[in-house]
Amino acid sequence: MSARPAAERREELIALMREMEQQHDCPLIATRTKLVFGAGNADADLMFVGEAPGFYEDQQGLPFVGRAGKLLDQLLIEIGLERGDSFITNVTKCRPPDNRDPLPDEIAVCKPYLLRQIELIEPTVVCTLGNFSLKLLTRSNTGITRVHGVPQEHELGGRKVQLYPLFHPAAALRGTAVLEQLRADMGRLPPLLAAPAPGQPEPPVDPASQLDLLG
Ligand code: URA
Repeated sequence: MSARPAAERREELIALMREMEQQHDCPLIATRTKLVFGAGNADADLMFVGEAPGFYEDQQGLPFVGRAGKLLDQLLIEIGLERGDSFITNVTKCRPPDNRDPLPDEIAVCKPYLLRQIELIEPTVVCTLGNFSLKLLTRSNTGITRVHGVPQEHELGGRKVQLYPLFHPAAALRGTAVLEQLRADMGRLPPLLAAPAPGQPEPPVDPASQLDLLG
């Protein structure tokens, strides 16, 4: 449970987006079309963090609206969730030219905004999609192939969260083996979301549910 009302945190998230639109100091501003701040439920338990906007995201100002996004939508439906249950964003909020990898200075300038997004949304589970968000948020060089599908507890945006490393959906579009790994890993998301948030106590046992044991 948050100490701060969701409506208040949502207002601050909108203010953060306005701030980025007006004075974001990123070298990619020169070549991007639109800022892709992120979209979804501002009070979600679940966040996805991708790499960087691509062509369609840059045109529309929304994350994951191309083929990789369609795959993410489909995999969410398969586990009984939908995009609106989550907040989706990226490591960088502007598209790198020709979809090249984001550079260290571009990532560094966006990092405080990503952490502030996590602080305001207060997710319990943060799914990193691919290596860029994984390495940034774990502050480790260990790659996705070694750690996918195994939750790690981290402090992000001032709170403990379960960081859940997933393959990037774009990688899953390139190969069936990765797609099946991603599907299997996503299958473990519902129980992870249902588990007590890191740092939170287990819910108290309802005494009525113990009566059967005593009778
Ligand atoms: N790939 C990403 O990493 N992010 C997007 O928003 C789209 C594709």
